[in-house]
Amino acid sequence: MRSLLFVPGDSPRKMEKAAGSGADALILDLEDSVSLSRKTEAREMVAQFVASADRAFPAPRLVVRVNALDTGLTDDDLAAVIKARPDAVLLPKAGSGADIQDLGARIAVEEAEAGLDEGTVLIHALMTETAGGLLQAGTFAGKSQRLSALAWGAEDLAADIGATSNKDASGRYTDVFRMARSLTLLAAAQSGVEAVDTVFTDFRNMEDLKKECDAAVRDGFSGKMAIHPDQVAVINAAFTPAPEDLERAIKILALFAAAGPDAGVLSLDGRMIDKPHLRQAERIARRAGLDPAALPEMDEADRD
Ligand code: COA
Ligand code: MG
Repeated sequence: MRSLLFVPGDSPRKMEKAAGSGADALILDLEDSVSLSRKTEAREMVAQFVASADRAFPAPRLVVRVNALDTGLTDDDLAAVIKARPDAVLLPKAGSGADIQDLGARIAVEEAEAGLDEGTVLIHALMTETAGGLLQAGTFAGKSQRLSALAWGAEDLAADIGATSNKDASGRYTDVFRMARSLTLLAAAQSGVEAVDTVFTDFRNMEDLKKECDAAVRDGFSGKMAIHPDQVAVINAAFTPAPEDLERAIKILALFAAAGPDAGVLSLDGRMIDKPHLRQAERIARRAGLDPAALPEMDEADRD
């Protein structure tokens, strides 16, 4: 997923608008963008939107951000929305891998109630919104098959540590926030899931958004969250691999597929390629919206 657009869950108008935004995923929010007095209404609106939305590719994936586990609101969020079968639930203020297991168990209960197969609904987590979550970055891997993306957040972390700003005068994230960003990349790599870059809140400023996207692509993020539909095109363009990079990635995937599971080191265009190149190629294919596992078969079919 290249772009994940946040939409307040108590605004059917924005949800409709977001559906046509071109975002790869929508994050239908039940947390911070919805006031406490509107939580119940928002749950119903989100459930109705998910249940009636067009789900066929290339329609956006639907992710619901629930309220954090310590709010006492999470179970009611899940009871309202899981039966509509969202693609994933986004957990804010995730404190550790144990929280992912806790959420997974709660989702499993609702899946069973709704007659859905266990594991249907995936988990995305915001893992740097609290000091504790940041310090537990190494605990997210290997805890749940549902975990499919890790994202970082800067606004709540600033509040948690008492920082008056998360950026310095030149607009660069300060040390703690750069560490949060780096730990998210590392935890995602360790977990084998997508790393998602945080929102860029200055939503009229496309020039600096593009700079942040380019830096995120360079550093290994597979996508970025958005707060405004106008940000989607910039994000999608930045995270879409260049045609020559995609072509090379497809060649590498095909070579490794042809060499079989024991393939070690191979050569392409006079250069050595090994396992890290294969993983890189898989990432590029995924960013292009392709399934890396299906590609070599496509390549075989093309040759017939
Ligand atoms: N999703 C869908 N539609 C959105 C949208 C979003 N995230 N943000 C704005 N729009 C719509 C507006 O409703 C408006 O539509 P309209 O002309 O049909 O009324 C249009 O896009 C233009 O919006 P604009 O006037 O430029 O912005 P705004 O002042 O209405 O909204 C925000 C600004 C920040 C309130 C809005 O972008 C927003 O709600 N963002 C998401 C916030 C969120 O979910 N935060 C939680 C995670 S950090
Ligand atoms: Mg928040």
